[in-house]
Amino acid sequence: MCGIVGYAGYEPAAPFLLEGLQKLEYRGYDSAGIAVFSDKVRTMKSQGRLATLREKVDAAGGIPGSLGIGHTRWATHGAPNDINSHPHSSMSGRITVVHNGIIENYIPLKEELVSQGVVFRSETDTEVVAQLFDKLYDGDLVGTLIQVLGKIRGSYALGILCTDYPDTLLAVRKDSPMIIGLGEHENYIASDIPAVLDHTRNYYLLNDNEIAIIKADSVELLDMDRNPISRDVYVVDYDISAAEKGGYDYFMMKEIKEQPNALRTCIGSRIDGDDIRLDKIRLTEEQIKNIGRIHIVACGSAWHAGIVGKYVIEELTRIPVEVDLASEFRYRRPILRPNDLCITISQSGETADTLAALREAKANDVHVLSIVNAVGSSIARESDDVLYTMAGPEIAVATTKGYSTQLAVLYLIALKFGKIRQTISSKTEAKLRKALEALPEQIENMFADEEALKVLAKQHADKEHVFVIGRGIDYGASLESSLKLKEISYVHSEAYAAGELKHGTISLIEEGTLVVAVATQDQLYEKLVSNVKEVKARGAYVVAIVKEGCTDVEGIADQVFYIPDTDDIFTSTLTVIPMQLFAYYVAIERGCDVDKPRNLAKSVTVE
Ligand code: AGP
Repeated sequence: MCGIVGYAGYEPAAPFLLEGLQKLEYRGYDSAGIAVFSDKVRTMKSQGRLATLREKVDAAGGIPGSLGIGHTRWATHGAPNDINSHPHSSMSGRITVVHNGIIENYIPLKEELVSQGVVFRSETDTEVVAQLFDKLYDGDLVGTLIQVLGKIRGSYALGILCTDYPDTLLAVRKDSPMIIGLGEHENYIASDIPAVLDHTRNYYLLNDNEIAIIKADSVELLDMDRNPISRDVYVVDYDISAAEKGGYDYFMMKEIKEQPNALRTCIGSRIDGDDIRLDKIRLTEEQIKNIGRIHIVACGSAWHAGIVGKYVIEELTRIPVEVDLASEFRYRRPILRPNDLCITISQSGETADTLAALREAKANDVHVLSIVNAVGSSIARESDDVLYTMAGPEIAVATTKGYSTQLAVLYLIALKFGKIRQTISSKTEAKLRKALEALPEQIENMFADEEALKVLAKQHADKEHVFVIGRGIDYGASLESSLKLKEISYVHSEAYAAGELKHGTISLIEEGTLVVAVATQDQLYEKLVSNVKEVKARGAYVVAIVKEGCTDVEGIADQVFYIPDTDDIFTSTLTVIPMQLFAYYVAIERGCDVDKPRNLAKSVTVE
């Protein structure tokens, strides 16, 4: 989704802004722009890739000035063109803003401003902020900002320049991320840490309804009553190279290959001898024993992790689990009881719907335990408890290590809760713990199939439809495998609970249709094999993913990939690996931009 970067210092701002925006490209965008202030504000914007904007800036011989803001826009209000790109300035040119989020009441505000003679250039909601700010401006920058915030409704992270304040950058947020980077004689704003990670490891994490006044040598934080706020400096401790490609063509492949180590950190740091430590969560053993129902709430792949988590948690703890899409949960008046537990899952920790769902649960006095990757993100900060996935920065829009570490944390929760509630014996718990610890190495061994999957991708890259079928946990894993394929290669793909095929979907199977059959559940294996025979009989080309040893399927399916032996409840971590690699190579074959799929954003900060 949109990205913001800003600079206040003594060096040229434009190169910094362009570099920062490049680091934010992974969030997804369709136009970009920067505005730099010296004697006046000079703005350059461009539809399409950042490289086009860079060419424009270079052709103009750069932009002078050491104070500036930049933005990558993912169009919501108005087409992705040069005019609608940010930054947006007021009619007089005094105020210039960049904005992430949506101003929900921009239409009545715009109508009022137009009736007062204000002329708008763009179709965006953001321009309203610039024009309104200028209209209300009385010389007091912060005072005017507070007035503006009193009039706008919606979500926003704003970076603001005012020509009356040649050394000042203003920032504010509500329901959209914004961080302040602290440098030496220069300070920065950004919607995401990787944008400025090359320049500093020290940050202030801005909370909702907080204002930051940023100059080259100072950063002041204020609340809405203009009271100063003191904030601890948040120090990023991950390796900068973790946010770089490190020799891979795409971040996605790097992140696929990082999964074993990410899982080692995520699982290993929580296994202490023969015990599992869920960090320092506040949820007590007594509360865990009394949980009536668990609500897992998330979006996209995190929701898929939740679906697998439901099977695992119910199996090991016998606690009923409901899994909801956050966008549905937040509006469906869910029935929440005081001894329920809500688990929200989010890689970015900033997904607007998941954040709203979390707030809905809290408003109903339900304890919220979140599984989050981005440290210090909004979801992490607003939850009662947080278990970090410790996957390191994930840059590719298509999640891989984010998803597998989310699964791992769900497994840990299931094991820990099962032990506390005595729904699994110590012996079973010990056996499962061992199986969990073996997963990273098992994934490493599975990378040996990469070449075969590349060949398979070459053979099927022109397919228009792909079906992924499974039963039980394998159905949950199929959903994620199918999403990987559609989001990065634009191949239409559907995941189906195999038992449902006969209720309609099998009519779509014809000669050559690619069907991936995931069959790792001992109890359901034969049933799945029957489903494979059914689609084979209708001409499908079947790729089976089964546990090692299930060689009988070789005579039925056209191609077979084996996963190493593990307990049935952990197979999703392994079955998704060949599908991540397959989706990657199909996308490469089809000439797609693997890390930045069209229309998609890494962090979905608007609903
Ligand atoms: C996954 O590949 C997707 N890009 C997407 O579905 C993602 O999982 C979803 O938007 C949720 O994001 P979050 O984990 O950051 O909340």
